[in-house]
Amino acid sequence: MDPAAARRILEQERARGLDLIGRAASLEDLEAAKVAVLGRKAPFSEVQRSLGSFGNADRRDLGTATNEVREALGAAIEDRRAELERHAEAGLLSADGVDVTLPGRGPRPGSLHPLTIVERQMVEVFTRMGYRVAEGPEIEDEWHNFEALNIPPDHPARTMKDSLYIDIPGMLLRTETSAVQIRTMESQPPPVYVVAPGRVYRREAVDASHLFVFHQLECLAVDEGLSLADLKGTLEAFAHEMFGPDVRARITPDYFPFVEPGAQMAVSCFVCGGRGCRVCGNGWLEQGGAGMVHPKVLENCGYDSERYTGFAFGLGIERVAMVRHGVNDMRLFVEGDVRFLEQFEGVA
Ligand code: FA5
Repeated sequence: MDPAAARRILEQERARGLDLIGRAASLEDLEAAKVAVLGRKAPFSEVQRSLGSFGNADRRDLGTATNEVREALGAAIEDRRAELERHAEAGLLSADGVDVTLPGRGPRPGSLHPLTIVERQMVEVFTRMGYRVAEGPEIEDEWHNFEALNIPPDHPARTMKDSLYIDIPGMLLRTETSAVQIRTMESQPPPVYVVAPGRVYRREAVDASHLFVFHQLECLAVDEGLSLADLKGTLEAFAHEMFGPDVRARITPDYFPFVEPGAQMAVSCFVCGGRGCRVCGNGWLEQGGAGMVHPKVLENCGYDSERYTGFAFGLGIERVAMVRHGVNDMRLFVEGDVRFLEQFEGVA
């Protein structure tokens, strides 16, 4: 290589290098540009290697020029590196950035489940009439769930409810809140005026009006001189408080081993007003079973059935909630769909 060619290459490489460095869009690009212009195989390095073969004057001039080009390119690389690092940091900051002018996304307040709301309203109707709230366990023994309620082991009524037993012999998930009648009477002398809301379990096919885990509210009154008229009056008072004065309540004969006589309580349908439709069939929606406490049940609990009489009923809380809120499928209560549940926000 002669000195003139070396000078030309140095100038070309300065221009090419500054261009490459200026266009490097990332730190990786910049590293590649550095290798291309100052690396061992770069034309610049060839010039540097050839310096020793020139005469004194050319070697001095070209040596100075080579140093200048290396310094210029080195400085350009450092400037570009600083610039790219600033960009990378700014990019990270903006990706992580918080726009403090945006409205916040606070957690939405929850609300009570519609069944909880309705259960509390039902309990309140009865506590205003002077009833006290009683409780019993959800895992029951056969005595409280069946035998004391006048349902011996071979009674056909067991077949319908003989349901969810657990591993401990003789224990099952209670099939109805009527078991709390027994626990209450065993624990106190008459008079008794209690309501017992709670969860019950049955082996049951699920449909629009049946669940296998559902809720009942049991009512028990035992005192001297109570009659069927007291039962009917109490049910009617409840229906009017819960559903309004236009809803008609009706009791018709039914059979439950633990009451005599037994009855069923229904209210006029919220869809058709009692004329009969797809939701109700015959114009009436069954709400619960009822009746005068069977003397045997009173005696099973040590009460004097000659002196005391009583009435009892068990209402399905889901069924009451359906009528009160015009819900035509019970499964909606357990599906957890927020679009359904949020309609009850603010309903106290
Ligand atoms: C009983 O459970 C009796 N213990 C009621 C009773 C109490 C009678 C006191 C006499 C004296 P029944 O199985 O009919 O009765 O259920 C009562 C109510 O619970 C029904 O009217 C209905 O409203 C509700 N119910 C019954 N089965 C289901 C179910 N699978 N899903 C949702 N609700 C139900």
